Amino acid sequence: MMTRKFMIFVLIFLFVISFSIFASDYQMNIDFSKKDKEISPLLYGLFFEDINYAADGGLYANLIQNSSFEFENAYTKDKMYSWEIISTNKEEIITSIESIKSINENNPNYLKISINSDQDQRVQLLNKGFDGIYVIQDDSYKVSLYLQNENFNGEIEIFLQDEKGKVIGKGAFDKPLTNEWEKYEIILTPCKTTESARLVINLKGKGTLLLDMITMFPERSWNGILRNDLVKLMKDFQSRFLRFPGGCILEGDSFENIYRWKDTIGEPVSRKMNYNLWYSREFPYYFQSYGLGFYEYFLLSDYLNAEPVPTVNCGMTCQARGGGPLALDQTYQFVQDAIDLIEFANSSTDSEWGKVRRELGHSQPFDLNFVGIGNEQWGWAYFNKYSLFHDSLKAHFPEINLIAGVGPSPDDALYHEAMNWITDLPQEEKPDYIDEHIYRSPEWFYTNIHRYDNYDRNMPKVFIGELAAHNDKMSNNLESALAEAAFLTAIEKNSDVVKMVSYAPLFAKIGYNQWQPNFVWFTDTEAIPTVNYQVWKLFSRNLGDYVIESSLAKQRETSYSITGKIGLGSRRNVIFENLIILEEKNQVIAERFSEPLDETMKFTIVNGNFEILENKLLSSHQTSGFSCIQLNEFFMDDQKDYSISVDFKITQRLGEAVVYLGLKDKNNYLLLHLANEGSYLELVSDGISYQMSPYNYFPLAINQAYRIFIDITGNSIKIEMAELNDSKINNKELLFDVSIRPNLGPLYQVVNYDEQSGDIIIKVVNSSQEDLKTNITISGVDYIYPKGLITIISGNLNDGNTLSNPNKIIPKTKQIEVSKDFDYQIEKNSVSVLRLKTKAEDFVKPKTITIDSTKSKIGVNDTLRIEITNCLMENGEVCELGEALIWFETDNPELVDFNYDITTGYNSLISLNNLENMKSDSFKVWAKVRINGYEIKSNSLTFEVKDDGN
Ligand code: AHR
Repeated sequence: MMTRKFMIFVLIFLFVISFSIFASDYQMNIDFSKKDKEISPLLYGLFFEDINYAADGGLYANLIQNSSFEFENAYTKDKMYSWEIISTNKEEIITSIESIKSINENNPNYLKISINSDQDQRVQLLNKGFDGIYVIQDDSYKVSLYLQNENFNGEIEIFLQDEKGKVIGKGAFDKPLTNEWEKYEIILTPCKTTESARLVINLKGKGTLLLDMITMFPERSWNGILRNDLVKLMKDFQSRFLRFPGGCILEGDSFENIYRWKDTIGEPVSRKMNYNLWYSREFPYYFQSYGLGFYEYFLLSDYLNAEPVPTVNCGMTCQARGGGPLALDQTYQFVQDAIDLIEFANSSTDSEWGKVRRELGHSQPFDLNFVGIGNEQWGWAYFNKYSLFHDSLKAHFPEINLIAGVGPSPDDALYHEAMNWITDLPQEEKPDYIDEHIYRSPEWFYTNIHRYDNYDRNMPKVFIGELAAHNDKMSNNLESALAEAAFLTAIEKNSDVVKMVSYAPLFAKIGYNQWQPNFVWFTDTEAIPTVNYQVWKLFSRNLGDYVIESSLAKQRETSYSITGKIGLGSRRNVIFENLIILEEKNQVIAERFSEPLDETMKFTIVNGNFEILENKLLSSHQTSGFSCIQLNEFFMDDQKDYSISVDFKITQRLGEAVVYLGLKDKNNYLLLHLANEGSYLELVSDGISYQMSPYNYFPLAINQAYRIFIDITGNSIKIEMAELNDSKINNKELLFDVSIRPNLGPLYQVVNYDEQSGDIIIKVVNSSQEDLKTNITISGVDYIYPKGLITIISGNLNDGNTLSNPNKIIPKTKQIEVSKDFDYQIEKNSVSVLRLKTKAEDFVKPKTITIDSTKSKIGVNDTLRIEITNCLMENGEVCELGEALIWFETDNPELVDFNYDITTGYNSLISLNNLENMKSDSFKVWAKVRINGYEIKSNSLTFEVKDDGN
């Protein structure tokens, strides 16, 4: 028999065990009845800049490098770069780059080949592309070139050669040569897949021929010019806007290098090529053909369903590269360019630039609503230029939203100067949006999670044109993606202010990059969406209409309260006077600084130098950080409300006064910064610093006295400031009124409601190394469907997607049981998006997926493509493939390889790795698709293996 004591012990033990197994560590409460801010429908977008070979050699699918022999810049004069000439008898061949008979003034250079011998000479002009030309067996490639005959008599053949010099595709045009520049086009269809092909123009005969603008595009490309897989990644992202063309590239490193949109439209042969600002000794051959120009950017925006957000040069060259403002007459050209751009995009076809748009093939307007004025400019030179553009553009097109730059950083002196400038501008002269660029450490994103909570809603809206977390290795990994995701939860909560945000840069070609991290890496044969892309895409594709109120905190954790001592301090020299503290309206301290410091126990000097002189407290601190003197006589508890006022005067340039509140120890306090470049409230918790208020730009002059008023009610702090002149208070102004409810992590959440589907969308980031048991309750809702759909991105912090493992971290979707009150374990290092249905309907199942191929036989050296021809959901709708996971399987995995296909964006190219592994002379292939947590299989195709005879 169990003794009573033993039974009690067993019961307690069971209770403790059951508690630790089932109890949740965290509590998330969602109140469906509390609608919070509306979410900007344009929130997530893409920022395209031609950096890292993103355009030529990347998205712009021309496979020929140096198509028009224009390569010339400070680092190279090699106008024949990427070309080679081979001839049977070198002495008899003369080749030169000339510009006497240019096709047009924008395209001055061409190649002249003269063959002098009477004998049957053969000359080959070869282009090696970027890293060799990647061609896929049986795909078609359109080669076009401009020729002018002087007196060449013979044959011209165009062909593709593989790495061994073997011809793998051939063609000749049937149009005769003339003595004028003429465009010739042929289609080549290689009989082999290779990454190292060369385009060869084979001349057989005698005489002189001029050649220019030789291009080659895969026919399987977007509009015949852009790489399908990269466009697909843009489309899958569900980008709500497209910012273009950059970035620094827009600014140019010289007047000639400035990006001018008019250089980038019209026939590619008449676009005025320029060197790429991101060129260098390491990348001397980085040029802009402008084949991807403003017209294409507008078309692409249209296709993506994205708001076009062009940025125009503001009459300045890149300040980060030592540039600056242009003279006024030059600046007016750029104002005019901006006016013409808006006309080109929006005006009727009767207008000068509307007519140009129609001639290019687009009668309908492009519906432009935003224009960025400059990129990362700063200082008064920029402010003046901006105002010039603002006045002129608003006079012509008052409806266009203008975006002003605020420098390269979110919180440096240049940013403060810009925000100061905007603060002082009359409302009608303020820009509609500011363009913030945030490249900061992962920690920064966590500790600035409250950045927009109290942002002045009367200031311009925020367009975060460039954002990326930069870790120590500048790598794309889960560590940086989690930090970005946490910040995005805060952005969604403040989407009444932050209207648009984009990661930067978008694309980078491996081995050709000038910048990292980037959103999507690629080679000639593959694209690797990073984990950062995957996380942002998940957020973008799960964007609701408004935020629902929610809280997420550790169970039984008491919320932050402002308790502790108060203190004063400074950077450099500051004088304080008249410290008065009221406790629930009763005066408890009136400190006149009348006794010498060393004779009183009232104060403890924690840091820096302090002195009392003539009823003033002098604080001095010349090194980094701030001085601190703590007032021993007073302790704030969380039961009472307080008012504190103190007078201060900054007496040294770049000086700053600080007031410590709720000072618990040297690692835990609130710090009110009072500085001319921006006053704000910082929370230091366990030594980590969080910004708790926006910056306020109340001007603080040196040697001028000010009084600061601090009112603390519960967790709210209201701060006002006034000038003091002969003890009289002038210009009293509210600095900020904020509530101190810090989110110290490791969980970050936002909840959206999507009106169309009726889904509640919960986004949660767990930045900790532990799985966290969380109880989720949803109140104020009538019904929750018992199954929810969760998509999780997780892994180790250092994990990222690489060329050797491009799918290391991809989103995984499954259905889970949910209710109005359910427990869920949030995976460590993860981003999760959970969709809950408020309607009694299941997640739609995929019904059928069908695949096909144009071939039914394959040899060991062959490539064949599987096409997804159809995918339907059970409700009859077409599958949303941008959301789906699609892969191919075979019954003979030893034999069959599935390779990435740049024309579909899937691993849809089949090749055979070794006939020795062949178990039978045929194999089957099928596709699988996973949508909404359901997986289905396609029809299967049977392929015969043929003996290549090689
Ligand atoms: O995104 C890369 C560069 O970062 C952009 O060109 C520039 O605006 C910023 O400095």
